[in-house]
Amino acid sequence: MEIIKEISEMKKISNFWKSKGYKISFVPTMGFLHAAHLALVKKARELGNKVVVSIFVNPLQFGPTEDFKEYPRDLERDLKLLREEKVDAVFVPTVEEMYPPDFQTYVEVTKLTQGLCGAYRIGHFKGVATVVLKLFNIVKPDIAIFGEKDYQQLQVIKQMVKDLNLDIEIIGYPTVREKDGLAMSSRNIYISKEERNSALSLYKSLLMAQKLVKEGIKDPRILKKEMENFIHTHPFTKVQYIEFVDPETLEPVEVIQKPVICALAVYVGKARLIDNMLISP
Ligand code: PAJ
Repeated sequence: MEIIKEISEMKKISNFWKSKGYKISFVPTMGFLHAAHLALVKKARELGNKVVVSIFVNPLQFGPTEDFKEYPRDLERDLKLLREEKVDAVFVPTVEEMYPPDFQTYVEVTKLTQGLCGAYRIGHFKGVATVVLKLFNIVKPDIAIFGEKDYQQLQVIKQMVKDLNLDIEIIGYPTVREKDGLAMSSRNIYISKEERNSALSLYKSLLMAQKLVKEGIKDPRILKKEMENFIHTHPFTKVQYIEFVDPETLEPVEVIQKPVICALAVYVGKARLIDNMLISP
């Protein structure tokens, strides 16, 4: 497994692989890998001849009051896990390598980023789109895999690829959960033992919404209230948003008549957790 820190080196290897006709599949990450990341890597192995994973905690996508500094990191452990998955190359650039002092070009996907997390994490998706386009230009993948857990992110990347005519196939991968249903996340490390049960309320509230919709409740306002009340019966929780949106445009729906994405963000203690589910009437 190649461990590459420099952009020029990564480009050289990718160009060489492409000249041999290999299909490159790519999984961008911020590291502190868990089983969901590894599931994406396995998918990448299935779909491509050469698998590249990037590990880069991207400062551009963190707000000034967010957790860039505390974001968990464990490179040695990550590399060990990726070696076990027979990854071909890991790209681990430094912040200076990715953003030299004169850096000044950004990518903005305008509409899809207005609601959901975009409304609360100003500049977040601009940071995500910018780093992902840079990574795409460096790694030159044929296929890139993103998790549906970050549903808005997946849609933003798909839109960027379409709008900027990139020749990359974007694959969405279903949310990987703990046995009890909690969506896996590097940020779950912030959840204390006392808060663990409260963290489960996101998933349980989604299941509850699904059940209520099946029972005939079609009004998102009623569903939101039910979900919020349910979540707030759990200690340490504070709902940031609960939305029912169109799966493609991410615009809020007035009545649930076709499958919709229910997405939510909830603080559990200091951890900001997100989850979502496709809900059909
Ligand atoms: P990170 O949070 O490390 O996630 C890397 C990839 O793993 C993303 O595509 C994310 O959606 C996916 N993922 C994380 N938890 C998942 C889960 N429980 N089930 C399925 N997929 C999951 O997302 C980022 O990093 C960054 O924003 C990045 C795209 C790397 C740009 O910096």
